[in-house]
Amino acid sequence: MDKIVALCKRRGFIFQSSEIYGGLNGFWDYGPLGTELKRNLKDFWWRRMVRERDDVVGMDGSILMNRQVWVASGHENTFTDPMVDCRNCKSRLRADQLPEKNGRKQCPVCGSFDLTEPRAFNLMFKTYVGATEDESAITYLRPETAQAIFVQFRNILEVSRKKLPFGIAQIGKAFRNEINPRNFTFRSREFEQMELEYFCRPENGLELLEYWLQERLRFYRDIGLSSESLHVHKIPPEECAHYSKGTYDIEFEFPFGIQELEGVAYRTDYDLNQHQKASGKPLDYFDEESKQHFIPHVVEPSAGVDRTALALISAAYDEEVVTDEKGKSETRTVLRFHPRMAPIKCGVFPLLKNNELLVRQAREIVDQLRGEMMVFYDETGAIGRRYRRQDEAGTPFGVTVDFDTIGENGPALRDTVTVRHRDSMEQERIAIKELAAFLGERIR
Ligand code: GAP
Repeated sequence: MDKIVALCKRRGFIFQSSEIYGGLNGFWDYGPLGTELKRNLKDFWWRRMVRERDDVVGMDGSILMNRQVWVASGHENTFTDPMVDCRNCKSRLRADQLPEKNGRKQCPVCGSFDLTEPRAFNLMFKTYVGATEDESAITYLRPETAQAIFVQFRNILEVSRKKLPFGIAQIGKAFRNEINPRNFTFRSREFEQMELEYFCRPENGLELLEYWLQERLRFYRDIGLSSESLHVHKIPPEECAHYSKGTYDIEFEFPFGIQELEGVAYRTDYDLNQHQKASGKPLDYFDEESKQHFIPHVVEPSAGVDRTALALISAAYDEEVVTDEKGKSETRTVLRFHPRMAPIKCGVFPLLKNNELLVRQAREIVDQLRGEMMVFYDETGAIGRRYRRQDEAGTPFGVTVDFDTIGENGPALRDTVTVRHRDSMEQERIAIKELAAFLGERIR
């Protein structure tokens, strides 16, 4: 994990938020490579979950909503963690994560046993809307994106004219004042979620829970997480939320242990019912065949962008010893991202930077590819160094413009380039005019 954190900082995937002021615990900034990685992940989720389907539409809700949303959803009263304070060192700790010694709970910071009784600590960040900071102005930064979907259910049903079963998808920020943010970005206080609420008839809920579990596992495999690194944990009924008729956690083998990536939950009609009761507005569905009104049930696959990005980096990280033609060995650090997720798809290198023809040709290739994918032009240093830099960024392809390309060694290889494959380090010769199609089909 230390190596991954160091690489993330060195190469600009992830930085501590407000770093020059000492940071802010639980908050992170994504640098150029991390931002591209997250964008690729979100774009692929959107493609799979919305664009490639007839039965899902998207929405983009506001982060602050009327406080009554959080009263009705139950978050204001029950979205809490049990918390204790250490009277000795004043640390605030999760009561359910304390180590025990001789059957007694102990403070993991100072070792004291002098702890307060557990108290419920609400995880929502409170804020005020408008100029007055009184009770009537209170609301919360949303702790999940899902509630915006439930409260807009009626509007979206009407405008999209969908019939059950159908879903509403959303990607956006969520905020939780976690007591112990930890494991790098895994548990943060500000993070992004990718959530789908898939509405259905009550009799199809259990079957759709199984369907979405399989769909979501397929998604993770398609972004490059191996089946062996993914685990499904069926939450025992007594541990499920009271309104859930079944929940699965999709887990991943992080370097710090097997931990949750996504929850797939059958939430019944709980949320729509709560909002219908609290708002007094109908949130039911009229079934034209049976001429009946009822509240749809919902199955919710809810994934974390930041956790999945961390899983992608952890799964991709590799070190291998390579020996060059002169017999010199060195350790190569390589991020073996699936090309679909890789922040940069292709590095473009003129063999020498002081040869005008090589540079001009390489720049033309960059211009040709730029509209289709993220490319990176690099002319500095020995070509081997440039390859290594891209290996560490996870770039799957490297294109080198050499003297064959510009016809200096005869016409046979003119207008062709070397394409180097990151994982095997093998090289092949490709015509420049075929490059965009060659790369395009491998990164989609
Ligand atoms: N609407 C359901 C819901 O929010 P959740 O299991 O609390 O369910 C869903 O959250 C996903 O959001 C998690 O599986 C995880 O990927 C992500 N997530 C939750 N809390 C997080 C945190 N503190 N830091 C990073 N990601 C988090």
